[in-house]
Amino acid sequence: MLIKRPPDIKPSEITSLSLYLRRREFLKDSALAGLAIAGLGASAPITAATAEKLVNIRKSPLSTNEELTPFEAVTNYNNFYEFGTDKEDPAANSGKFKPHPWSVQVAGQCAKPGTYNLEDFIKPHALEERIYRLRCVEAWSMVIPWVGIPLADVLKRFEPTGNAKYVAFTTVMRPNEMPGQRRAVLEWPYVEGLRMDEAMHPLTILAVGLYGAVLPNQNGAPLRLVVPWKYGFKGIKSIVKIEFTENQPPTTWNISNGQEYGFYSNVNPEVDHPRWSQGKERRIGEFLKRKTLMFNGYADQVASLYTGMDLQKFY
Ligand code: MTE
Repeated sequence: MLIKRPPDIKPSEITSLSLYLRRREFLKDSALAGLAIAGLGASAPITAATAEKLVNIRKSPLSTNEELTPFEAVTNYNNFYEFGTDKEDPAANSGKFKPHPWSVQVAGQCAKPGTYNLEDFIKPHALEERIYRLRCVEAWSMVIPWVGIPLADVLKRFEPTGNAKYVAFTTVMRPNEMPGQRRAVLEWPYVEGLRMDEAMHPLTILAVGLYGAVLPNQNGAPLRLVVPWKYGFKGIKSIVKIEFTENQPPTTWNISNGQEYGFYSNVNPEVDHPRWSQGKERRIGEFLKRKTLMFNGYADQVASLYTGMDLQKFY
């Protein structure tokens, strides 16, 4: 299979994240906005060539060197129920979603709560490319070159207190732009959570891009979570709120069906989903199934977080 790498980038195509965000702000108010934004790919289908590139991305040693899933699959085979429940729906229905301007509310057990615009929220951090496996609970997987920053680096800035045992995340609520939110398929807004040590683990990132370009709407623009040793649904998209909590926060799929989806949701081939096996997975683009690995292949780095826990019980 063809290995897709980010296409060669001409200097003229390059923009920094802050410049990109400011330009979006400017365009929003300009008479040419519709045309220009369409040109940036907000409503036209995004391709590897038209996606807005990011600069100064350093390569992370924490990346896998497995073959990448093609850009077209990563951006057209999605789960983002706010835009519909079919895999093609997020790409088809997210064109009107406006990820800029964007702000993130930081709340709860920390010394520096507040509302931060996206630029300030991520400004001091250097962007990294992290190529991770994504294992969906539906038993398919992809390999995605995310662009992001370690979540720990962001969280530390808000000085969590000793009472911060968990971190809770919330997706934006915009039924006007997100047609799926007008239907009660899930309880809205989508919420997720991590234990503090999981959130601070070096593998956990906040992604702002993929394939060297800003995140397409369907992948969770402008900011989403990526936790590579957990099932994909922990990777909450389009985050507007981060809260440090003392107690374990509710999570959307656990609220929807607690028998099938637990809080931890670590990839575990030994704990089957009640309706199907988790022992194997289909890598998108491949014909034969492959074995699912404990903690999605990241056991060496994360197994110690769960020492002494019964993973059949805490699924
Ligand atoms: N976040 C929100 N807000 N809404 C969703 O429906 N789906 C989750 C997760 N994050 C979802 C979400 C699921 S089930 C998966 S597998 C991943 O997003 C898919 O991410 P991708 O479409 O970028 O591959």
